[in-house]
Amino acid sequence: MPALPIVVVTGGAGFIGSHTVDRLMESGHRVVVLDNFSTGKRANLARWADNPALHVVTCDVAHGIFAALAPITKQHGPVERIVHLAAQVSVVASIANPLVDMQVNYGGTLHVMEYARATGVKKVAFASSAAVYGDVTELPVREDIHCQPISPYGNHKLASELALDYYASVHNVPTTALRFFNVYGPRQDPSSPYSGVISIFTDRARAGKTLTIFGDGSQTRDFVYVGDVVRAILAAAGDGNSRLIANVGTGGETSVLELARAVNELCGNRSTIEHAPSRAGEILKSRARVDRLRDQLGVVAQTALHDGLKATLA
Ligand SMILES: NC(=O)c1ccc[n+]([C@@H]2O[C@H](COP(=O)([O-])OP(=O)(O)OC[C@H]3O[C@@H](n4cnc5c(N)ncnc54)[C@H](O)[C@@H]3O)[C@@H](O)[C@H]2O)c1
Repeated sequence: MPALPIVVVTGGAGFIGSHTVDRLMESGHRVVVLDNFSTGKRANLARWADNPALHVVTCDVAHGIFAALAPITKQHGPVERIVHLAAQVSVVASIANPLVDMQVNYGGTLHVMEYARATGVKKVAFASSAAVYGDVTELPVREDIHCQPISPYGNHKLASELALDYYASVHNVPTTALRFFNVYGPRQDPSSPYSGVISIFTDRARAGKTLTIFGDGSQTRDFVYVGDVVRAILAAAGDGNSRLIANVGTGGETSVLELARAVNELCGNRSTIEHAPSRAGEILKSRARVDRLRDQLGVVAQTALHDGLKATLA
């Protein structure tokens, strides 16, 4: 039997990572998860616990990739593709601790790219973020505008994109970077204070607890369902589209007030909605231009917010 192609998913025990692992396992890959379990959970991968095609290795992406992968590649052959999702994911923590953010979010990307260069990986797909844009006034946000990140997190995602481009152009390592907008869905951890608003609202509405909106709730986000994001990741990890940078969103906007009402309705309207003072520095409007996602990667986000919320609550 021919060897299964090996795909490494850094951060594969996390929210988006574990959904990516699910799809890769279903389509017959050998998958290696590299994760330090700082926010990821083994439970997210429990479905594959007895499957020998999944290898879960505890590893800091900013240190030990070569050593972590050596025993697996010795036995099963070289890594074909890497999906690089591991990151320090909190913008707030990046402001408190920019050097740690740099080590994980920029340093981690350099380690991944060095591994890819040294071993001839066929494609690296990278999780960048809409945070690279900063506070943009012209919507929908186009990929080619001047990026002005307003956090170390955004800076290091942008620096990572530049690193990908350098490795692609100078060392011929094909790369694609995806700028995720607000991703939501099952397994997003509501316990973290930095979690996405949808996971917090769904968690609280289920328990009949108050939903707190900062400001009047007119701030908008482009909420994109994790299943659609994974389709974009798999397309980015495929052949072609090297040096592409593409937004991953729906192209639409939902206000936080509309969101709170929709979540509350799906949970039987048991929660009250209250307003707290607006948070300094919060971006008011966000919406992705999605032409590149559609035209270059062939992906259109299909999941309506109502359906995605239902799946998240289930
Ligand atoms: N969720 C969103 O809305 C969103 C938006 C923009 C970008 N992103 C990016 O998508 C990626 C995945 O995010 P997520 O929402 O699934 O978050 P998550 O916290 O669930 O996943 C991150 C994973 O990376 C792991 N990790 C962290 N530091 C590590 C390190 N040093 N070495 C190895 N593993 C490490 C964590 O344990 C976790 O499993 C991240 O790169 C994040 O910056 C997410």
